[in-house]
Parts: sequence; structure tokens; C-alpha cells
Amino acid sequence: MSCILLTGSSRGIGAAAAALLEERGEKVIGHATRSGGPETIAADFLEPTAAQMLWDGALEVSGGAIDVLVNNAGLFDPNPIEGSDVEWLDKWEETLRINLSAAAQLSRFAVKHWQERGAKGRIVHVASRAGHRGDSPAHWHYAAAKGGMLAMHKTIARAYASQGITSFAIAPGFVDTAMAGDYLESRGGEGLLADIPLGRVAEPEEIARIIAFCALDAPESMTGAVIDANGASYVR
Ligand SMILES: NC(=O)c1ccc[n+]([C@@H]2O[C@H](COP(=O)([O-])OP(=O)(O)OC[C@H]3O[C@@H](n4cnc5c(N)ncnc54)[C@H](OP(=O)(O)O)[C@@H]3O)[C@@H](O)[C@H]2O)c1
Repeated sequence: MSCILLTGSSRGIGAAAAALLEERGEKVIGHATRSGGPETIAADFLEPTAAQMLWDGALEVSGGAIDVLVNNAGLFDPNPIEGSDVEWLDKWEETLRINLSAAAQLSRFAVKHWQERGAKGRIVHVASRAGHRGDSPAHWHYAAAKGGMLAMHKTIARAYASQGITSFAIAPGFVDTAMAGDYLESRGGEGLLADIPLGRVAEPEEIARIIAFCALDAPESMTGAVIDANGASYVR
């Protein structure tokens, strides 16, 4: 049984991944912004110390050994360039902090944890198609954070593979969660689907299956890979 720290497990893709991993008999330590629980730790990534508190709390719950980190929590909040200068910068920094800095902090804690124990470990990063393709005019920050996450993932994979520490990234297109729902609605809903050859957005359970594969099954030789899940809307 692996012990898996999964950020953003309260809803959407994270909740689907937690359910699937638990079904497979793994121990999942969940996370949400506020609402905690016995196996769900509250940490608002807007706070610079939150990632450290989450990691320390998760280590305690795990009994001292975490095998897999899944960086899934994220925010998709529009930031139109027409906003005030201060507002735009604030939103930029909030998104970078939640979507990239917290994932970087947790990844660093995880790598050091495995190095100290001489143990193998895996990181799964839930990035986005936006990290390759860019995003809407109101989402420079989101695309930049996800592009940064992909670059960080590749760096980790290359740096620590020889120590048995592997890194996998997933780049979903639209997924049917609250995050995409509001956006699809605001951009004309069905019209956007014309851009997706598959004709539909992904289900959270589909991304959860890829998370579980990366967390548990992917061969070590796949370290450094980025797995697309976008209905062929962006084919690299
Ligand atoms: N949905 C899509 O179309 C899509 C596409 C590509 C990539 N992704 C990525 O997939 C991941 C999951 O997305 P989703 O669609 O499942 O999103 P979601 O339904 O909006 O859930 C977001 C998760 O992130 C957590 N979160 C949000 N703000 C946070 C903060 N300040 N501090 C800590 N945690 C925070 C939320 O916790 P609370 O419940 O406590 O707020 C929630 O668990 C994200 O990284 C997202 O960028 C999604």
C-alpha cells in the first residue's frame, strides 16, 4: 500500500482521483483550502507557509513516510488586462502562488524526504494543455503557471531519476468540473466544443485514471513524460 498526498482532493479531478486510489487500496491523505477532516488537511496556498504546514501535517498522519505526491490543487480565475495595475499584479501573484509555488514547495519537501530516507518516490503534476498552448487573454497567469509546472517537472525528472525519484505530468484540456464549467458557460458553451475533435470535454474520472496510472503503474522509464488528455484539441 502506498501513502499518497493528494492536493485539492475536495472536489473535481482531485475528488475523483482520491476515490479511485482508495478503491485500489492506497492510503490517501487529502487536502482542501479550508475544510479539514481526519485524513484531509486544510491549507490555503495563498499563505506562503501553507505548503510547509501541509507537508508536515501529512508526514504526521502518514506515520513518517509518504510515497507519492500529487500536485493537483489549482485556481482558474480570470485576470483581464483591463483591470487596474495593482489588481492585475495581485491576481497574477495569487495564481502563481497557488498553481506553481505551492507545488514547487511540496515537490522540494518530497524530494528531500525521499533523499533522506534513501527511498524511491513519485510526483504527479496535474498541469494543463495551457502550459503548452497558452490560454485565453484573461489567463496569462494560469498558462504561465502551468508552463512553469511542466518545466519544473522535467527538471525534477532529469535531476533525480538516478535516485529512484520519478516525475510525471498530465496536461488535460477542458474537464467537466466547476473550474471549466463557469468558463465554458462564459465563452458560449457548446461553441467551444467545436474545437475538440472528440466532441466533448473530459470527465474527471478520466483524468483520475491517468493520475492513478502515474502514481502507481507507470514504468520508471516514463519519468519526465507529459501525458495529454484533451480530445485531440491540441496534438503535439
Ligand atoms: N477543469 C479543467 O478544465 C482543467 C483543465 C486542465 C487542468 N486542470 C487542472 O486540474 C486541477 C484540478 O482542477 P479541477 O477542475 O478539479 O478544479 P476544481 O474543481 O476547481 O478544484 C480545485 C481544487 O483546488 C483547491 N484549491 C483551490 N484554491 C486553493 C487554494 N487557495 N489553496 C489550496 N487549494 C486550493 C480546491 O480546494 P477547495 O475545495 O477547498 O476550494 C479544490 O480542491 C487543477 O490544477 C487545474 O488547473 C483542470
